[in-house]
Amino acid sequence: MALDDLPSLESEILSRIKAARDEREIEEIRVWAFGKKSRYAELKKSLGKREKESAKELGLRIHASNNNTLQAWSARRDEILNAALEARLKAETVDVTLPVDPQPRGKIHPVSQVFAEIEAIFADMGFSVRYGPDIEDDFHNFTALNFPPGHPAREMHDTFFFEEKEDGSRMVLRTHTSPVQVRTMTSEKPPIRIIAPGRTFRCDSDQTHTPMFHQVEGLVIDKETHMGHLKGTLEAFVKRFFEIDDLSTRFRPHFFPFTEPSAEMDVAYERVDGAIKFGQGDKWMEILGCGMVHPNVLKNCGLDPDEYQGFAFGMGVDRLAMLKYGIPDLRDFFSGDTRWLEHYGF
Ligand code: DAH
Repeated sequence: MALDDLPSLESEILSRIKAARDEREIEEIRVWAFGKKSRYAELKKSLGKREKESAKELGLRIHASNNNTLQAWSARRDEILNAALEARLKAETVDVTLPVDPQPRGKIHPVSQVFAEIEAIFADMGFSVRYGPDIEDDFHNFTALNFPPGHPAREMHDTFFFEEKEDGSRMVLRTHTSPVQVRTMTSEKPPIRIIAPGRTFRCDSDQTHTPMFHQVEGLVIDKETHMGHLKGTLEAFVKRFFEIDDLSTRFRPHFFPFTEPSAEMDVAYERVDGAIKFGQGDKWMEILGCGMVHPNVLKNCGLDPDEYQGFAFGMGVDRLAMLKYGIPDLRDFFSGDTRWLEHYGF
């Protein structure tokens, strides 16, 4: 290559550098303009064949030109890299003014809330929690609890029966949480002080009944336990549950096959502008069933009624939630409507 070609080589390289658009193009120019097979390299190789003086002069000019184009190249490469970085930062920008979590928020269902409240109150009184299965056998749901076979008491519960097995027995969806009493007495030694929260099932549906509902069972068994303990425990419970210190209660005689004597506990209320106000008043609201554990139940569970006695109680959790939090229709509890949960949830 002739020495006179140097200016045109330089301007060709500079114009290609200027035209480079991205990292790949600028890298190709580096190899083409400054690599081992570039025209600068060719020129340098040819220097040896020249006269010393002209070789020196040519060498200096090649060197200057090479420096000049190399500078232009690295400036253009910086430009390209910066522009690429700029574009990436722009594309990955986060808008910090957007809402943090635009998803709908979950809430605690009133039934879960009331379960937790009841458990906390009884835990403070020294009770622990036991669970039993939703699908029960006849023994635990009825027989051990002193429901005689064929006795109308069995029909009090609109029971969901499973298909008969070969031996003629039928499993049931438990109609109450009372079978957990039986499971506890047959597997643990007194003193016993437990509550059993859980799901229960009866074939019934209207504004205050759903086929699946919730109960909390309670059981206390010891040697000296009497009706006074029952009253004291349950009165303390309802006062704390409704958060009213001067809440009047009464115990009204009732019948349950598994307790003797049996009672229902009522709390006093009055209507103020159509709303129920608990505490005092001339009206009574039934809250729960209770009684002293029937000697037959103790015997059925392997305990000696001459040695042990105790009390039991059972309450409807959904109803307590409706009363405490002013929820009008029980069926809405299980409709899965997020607007309802947003309003009544915790
Ligand atoms: N099992 C009863 C029901 O579902 C509630 C009940 C009443 C439970 C009295 C008890 C009790 O333990 O002593 O209607």
